[in-house]
Amino acid sequence: MAPTPTCLLTLVVALTFLLLEGPAAAAPMTAERQREVQSLLKQLNKPPLATIESPDGDIIDCVHISKQPAFDHPLLKDHTIQMQPSSYPGGLYHDSHPITQTWHQNGKCPENTVPIRRTKEEDILRASSIRMYGKKSPGSIPNLNSINGPSSTPSVTSGRHQYGVASAPVGKGYGTKATFNLWRPTIARAGDFSLTQLWISAGSGNDLNTIETGWQVYLNLYADNNPRLFIFWTNDGYQTGCYNLCSGFVQTNNQIAIAGTLSPVSTYGGTQYDFDILVFKDQKGGNWWLQVGSSLVGYWPSSLFSQLADSASTIQWGGEIFSGDAGQTSTQMGSGHFPHEGFGKASHIKNIQVVDSSNTLNPASGLQLIAGQPHCYNVTNGNSGDFGTYIYYGGSGKNPNCQ
Ligand SMILES: *[C@@H]1O[C@H](CO)[C@@H](O)[C@H](O)[C@H]1NC(C)=O
Repeated sequence: MAPTPTCLLTLVVALTFLLLEGPAAAAPMTAERQREVQSLLKQLNKPPLATIESPDGDIIDCVHISKQPAFDHPLLKDHTIQMQPSSYPGGLYHDSHPITQTWHQNGKCPENTVPIRRTKEEDILRASSIRMYGKKSPGSIPNLNSINGPSSTPSVTSGRHQYGVASAPVGKGYGTKATFNLWRPTIARAGDFSLTQLWISAGSGNDLNTIETGWQVYLNLYADNNPRLFIFWTNDGYQTGCYNLCSGFVQTNNQIAIAGTLSPVSTYGGTQYDFDILVFKDQKGGNWWLQVGSSLVGYWPSSLFSQLADSASTIQWGGEIFSGDAGQTSTQMGSGHFPHEGFGKASHIKNIQVVDSSNTLNPASGLQLIAGQPHCYNVTNGNSGDFGTYIYYGGSGKNPNCQ
């Protein structure tokens, strides 16, 4: 298509936006900083056996399975890779279909390699500091106190992190499976993110352990507005821990790129796309396995965790947005539409199930809803034959009722 004036204007606006918002503009490129960036790149990008260029601009490196970044983690020094879990939860009542990622259009990674999205120098420069690259800074998981009103938990409701989440106190939980609707919400500022995910957690304060996965739109981290498959974990209440394959998660699959673009996305009032995520604790091996669509992707080794070495106490599902600036953002959550609009318009998570101590998936029950500012982002739940336990969540952010 020939560039029309509108198209060019959009491009100019987008570039100006990037220049204004990019924190990198402020940080001078000293020799010291240059060295730090190069050393982080060397640590993150392992020498590939093959490379695939994705139409979305990503470079996917096929790295030998034994050379993946997981094994840089001090807790995994003598770790032996497990290629398969020793057990698998029963009681699945929903068949998973394979997922598609944009890079699949241009090739496949060979056997015994894992696809890793290459980190580029500019990816790191967009972070607020080198130390913050790929880090998450909420300090806590979605907080139940926020259902009592905005004043009780300023950290959750101040506009920086906002949630539309359902939370299940599970006693001893061993995982979850749910079907996630896929959308491409609009991000108002380069530093904002919008995500849809599950949280598996145990412990509190500096002893909080979490396993998190879902899809995320985060211009500063990924250089575009595509929804990307992400994972995250922490074993110390978010003091450390980072996104994707930065270290700790052991990937076994050669077809799914964590941090890669997921496609196609749903359209408002039109075709809906969704995919399943299952995370379960292998009750013999102890590791927490991740399955996306019908593929086992890999696992978080049990040895990474203190509290989650045994079981989870809380499991949550829903949306979160982050905005670095004070005041309300118009960054969208989910589809950008509110739960009351229902199927095909509001974003859903359905067939929400929890793995119990007998390694069986059951519909999640006793959900508590967390939406600190329901006029900005909200969540509702229900049960039906087709959808099992489900939620609708999301919203537009800033609007006349949400200032
Ligand atoms: C938010 O959702 C709840 C149901 O979960 C509903 O009762 C409430 O009216 C909604 N709030 C707004 C502002 O839409």
